Amino acid sequence: MNNKKRLIITIDGPAGVGKSTVSKTIAKRLQLKHIDSGAIYRAITYKVLTGQVLGTVQGAIKGNGNNGSTLSEDDIVTIARQVKIEYKTSDRIVLDGDEVTKQIRSQEVTRCVSTVAAYKGVRDVVVNILKRLAADGGVVMEGRDIGSVVLPDADFKFYLDATLQERARRRYEELKRSDKDVELYKIQLEIKHRDKQDSSREIAPLIMDPGAAYIDTSILTLKEVISLIIRKIDFILKIDSMVFFNSSNPFYYMVCFVLKLFYTKYFGLNIQGLENIPATGGVLLVCNHLSHLDPPAVAVSIPRQASYIARSSLFTVKPLFGWLLKRLNSYPINRDGIDRDVFKRVITLLDNGKICLAFPEGTRSKTGQLQPAKPGIGMIISMAKNEGVRFSVIPCRISGSDKAFPPDAKWVKKYPIILNYGKPIDISDLLVKQDRQTYQAIADRIMEHIGEIGV
Ligand code: DC
Repeated sequence: MNNKKRLIITIDGPAGVGKSTVSKTIAKRLQLKHIDSGAIYRAITYKVLTGQVLGTVQGAIKGNGNNGSTLSEDDIVTIARQVKIEYKTSDRIVLDGDEVTKQIRSQEVTRCVSTVAAYKGVRDVVVNILKRLAADGGVVMEGRDIGSVVLPDADFKFYLDATLQERARRRYEELKRSDKDVELYKIQLEIKHRDKQDSSREIAPLIMDPGAAYIDTSILTLKEVISLIIRKIDFILKIDSMVFFNSSNPFYYMVCFVLKLFYTKYFGLNIQGLENIPATGGVLLVCNHLSHLDPPAVAVSIPRQASYIARSSLFTVKPLFGWLLKRLNSYPINRDGIDRDVFKRVITLLDNGKICLAFPEGTRSKTGQLQPAKPGIGMIISMAKNEGVRFSVIPCRISGSDKAFPPDAKWVKKYPIILNYGKPIDISDLLVKQDRQTYQAIADRIMEHIGEIGV
């Protein structure tokens, strides 16, 4: 896998699906170069239409209803081979020394580009240009055949789709802002025509590469599509950078196996309410915190592998212990419990159907009683739910671990530890606002539920 700077991301899909805005934003966020392959086909089409290369030619293209002289496929391929296209940025295309960024978006070019792009000779020229642009990596390239033909070895491939009606509506809204005379039905017809041409041509038709992630954007907002893509990329990159961290981390299972024997034999670990933990899908486990024995107790008590958020000092005070924690799916969080990077990581994990464990109180209770929760947990839940992530919030009441390993003790002693998992907590009524008070209210509700489980 490339590092982040060298990443290659492809975004394919039909006309009007929003590829450009999505690709541009993703490129900006990840500090990669954005390449709009359609702009190059458009630049060639513009050159053909203006007839500047062949001089006398009027720029008519066979089959597009122009009255001037007709250019053959060979003429058009010759033009494609002769023109000098400089792709400065997606907002600056230079053709034979002249900037044509605006001209290539004209209705005339849009109407003819699919015909030009269907010629093999033209595609060969453009594919070469595109491969050169991506040679050093670090790009988000959008088009129709990027994941399947141009950059088949890309690190991430996405295929965006939406219904014809929705794509026409989006294009209509976009054009209406600059041109008041546009008509929705005409745009829909034009997109339908382009769809047909782009997907029925013989060479490199619009198809979804089997390795691409399919995203139906019909009912998603732009923001949702972007955060979905970023999360998917982030998630894979994070997994990739952690040697042991994947859904079947053998090291994790090995450690849990040994610990479970110890917890069962020595502490007589008693687990209740396990049926409340869904077998699949994202779960945020929220527990009261009494002792250092708590996180392993949770780990060995559930049948699924979990990830953990732990105070950052635990990772640094004893480097070997920090190394071990990382190998056991733990992430450091800043002391105040508000760490947006960790929050995002937790949200990504939940979105990918993982279990995450958090201690809303932040620190161990010194008295054995429940303590007030910090607002951080409310913030994670609120951010995640507002991003449309689906997951359950399951409370867990831990008891006995403070007696088994009191805060000032040097070693553990035999004392029964009980873990009791409660029913999912509903916080849907608290998702309307996103402010500190609401985060605190969510955190408080969680502690109430943990309290109701009883000991
Ligand atoms: O994305 P766009 O509308 O700017 O693309 C213009 C045309 O170029 C589109 O109708 C099909 C063609 N195209 C292509 O055939 N292959 C690509 N990779 C990109 C665009």
